[in-house]
Amino acid sequence: MQRIPVIQIGMGGVGRVLVEQVLHFNAHYGARYGFRFAYTALADRQGAIVADERIPPATLLEAIAAKQSGGSLADVPAGGPLVDWQNLLTPVHSLVVDVTAQAGAEAGLAEAAAQGHRVVLANKKPLCGTIESFKALTERGHTRYEATVGAGLPVISTLRSLVDTGDGIERIAGCFSGTLGFLTTELQDGRRFSDAVVEAKRRGWTEPDPREDLSGMDVARKALILARTSGFSAELADISVTPLFPPELGTLSVAEFMDQLPTLDEEYRRRFETVPNTTWRYVAQVLGAGSTVGLTEVAPNDPLGSLRGPDNLVVYHTQRYRERPLSVRGPGAGTEVTASAVLADMIAFGREWR
Ligand SMILES: NC(=O)c1ccc[n+]([C@@H]2O[C@H](COP(=O)([O-])OP(=O)(O)OC[C@H]3O[C@@H](n4cnc5c(N)ncnc54)[C@H](OP(=O)(O)O)[C@@H]3O)[C@@H](O)[C@H]2O)c1
Repeated sequence: MQRIPVIQIGMGGVGRVLVEQVLHFNAHYGARYGFRFAYTALADRQGAIVADERIPPATLLEAIAAKQSGGSLADVPAGGPLVDWQNLLTPVHSLVVDVTAQAGAEAGLAEAAAQGHRVVLANKKPLCGTIESFKALTERGHTRYEATVGAGLPVISTLRSLVDTGDGIERIAGCFSGTLGFLTTELQDGRRFSDAVVEAKRRGWTEPDPREDLSGMDVARKALILARTSGFSAELADISVTPLFPPELGTLSVAEFMDQLPTLDEEYRRRFETVPNTTWRYVAQVLGAGSTVGLTEVAPNDPLGSLRGPDNLVVYHTQRYRERPLSVRGPGAGTEVTASAVLADMIAFGREWR
């Protein structure tokens, strides 16, 4: 039975579920596939657990429990401090799995890919540096990143199949944010903007600073990943992004920002109420040039207008699917589905591992 070494960076919501899913795969499907995953390193921001051959399942479960109760991997008996995740790389070719939201890892991950490691990402940021860094990270197919757009939905693999088989991508449109999907359907149902944001934050559907979602930058990163995967040489700065709050609220502390939210209620009430037979969704239009991300008027019976809650919709307008565009629709957030997309990428690499 082949063992595939795994270095996992990140033990948050997605990372913990991923470890559980990997253990389940090893126990139930490893024999069928002829390989099992062997964790050789597991890291959070402060600590890491490292093993030459494999971290035993009991230690992995201990690590999950420690993280669930708010601890660090530095504090578990098998753990130790971590200065930089790149120190975890060894000459042994491994699967390097980034389930953090860290910025600035693109060069290190591209270097790992160039050395023969394989990289799997739920983290969008390494794909959103310069176009050169995107190419360095993804060339030769050493990096997979299905979970970065649409969580568990087959958004990237569908696009890859279209591109690889010679279809021409004309544009991709849709709603790519579960958080903003929830927010706009709540507003459509007459809820106050401030109440809807507070609830999304309470449910853990926003980043700790909700402006990261409300700024539209998370959607812009997904649009950029789709544009680049389509073969367009786009940069993040090329995308026109309209945030859901005015610039003067951008400089406040999180607490001050939350206090100021009710000042936006009236504007959103009017916007969602005034035009009959119309509603609003936070829509991305991905094009070769001039991609846009922002609140857009749609008919309630339009596929975008009929979306509810945190569901995502990605519509591919291509040369082959020009008359009736191809679409992927479904829940676009959640730790279980996100982790499953990461694991599916790991299995895809496992099947071609030599
Ligand atoms: N949740 C979803 O539904 C979803 C859907 C699609 C994609 N994603 C993406 O998946 C990624 C993970 O999401 P999440 O919800 O699991 O986030 P999370 O709960 O905030 O967890 C992030 C983890 O990364 C660790 N980390 C951050 N910087 C690090 C560094 N420099 N070195 C080592 N570890 C580091 C954190 O360490 P500490 O534990 O020490 O803080 C934490 O364990 C994000 O990029 C997110 O955008 C999430």
